[in-house]
Amino acid sequence: MTLEKCWYELNIPCENALNPNWKFPDVAGKEFGVWDYKAHQIFNPRWVYDVAQKGLIIAEALVFYRGPNHNTDNAHLDIHRSHPVKISTFGLNLIIGGQDANMTWYKTPRINRKPTPGGAGTVYYNWPIDTLTEIDRHVLAENKVTMVRVGIPHTIIMGDQPRWCISARCATVENMYWGQITEWMRKRDLLVERD
Ligand SMILES: [Fe+2]
Repeated sequence: MTLEKCWYELNIPCENALNPNWKFPDVAGKEFGVWDYKAHQIFNPRWVYDVAQKGLIIAEALVFYRGPNHNTDNAHLDIHRSHPVKISTFGLNLIIGGQDANMTWYKTPRINRKPTPGGAGTVYYNWPIDTLTEIDRHVLAENKVTMVRVGIPHTIIMGDQPRWCISARCATVENMYWGQITEWMRKRDLLVERD
């Protein structure tokens, strides 16, 4: 059930998005992990250039790994590392694995406390998901760029398949709200409409 649309696939090819010199972090014996990379470390410079031509300046990427059935029962929203009071709006996600894992989104409760520190220099607001109202869910496809909303509570409900998420974060358009970035993408024919 969708109450609000919190994801869109984009008309951005991503076959050659990753830098051939980049290696996935070693996750032997790990159930989860978060890493961050500068754009030129993880992405193919040609891809970063092509995407920049469309007006999207990719500054960095967060990489998330979750092992099979690694569920936290919490949802969080993303906050800029360097500006702790600025909530992030969106990520451009590339997925490997996790084709039985749903990303889920929830209504934002009233916030009356400070964020808590997370991995890779990130900070988060966290809530138990059983206290939240779900508004959208989606299994993010492999080999697509999916724009996801990260300024409201969200999480991944893991299944049996391990899942990598490479979440590109943009510099120039980060000051838009979700409705604005959606419209920005739509005007440039970058957005694939959904039901
Ligand atoms: Fe997040």
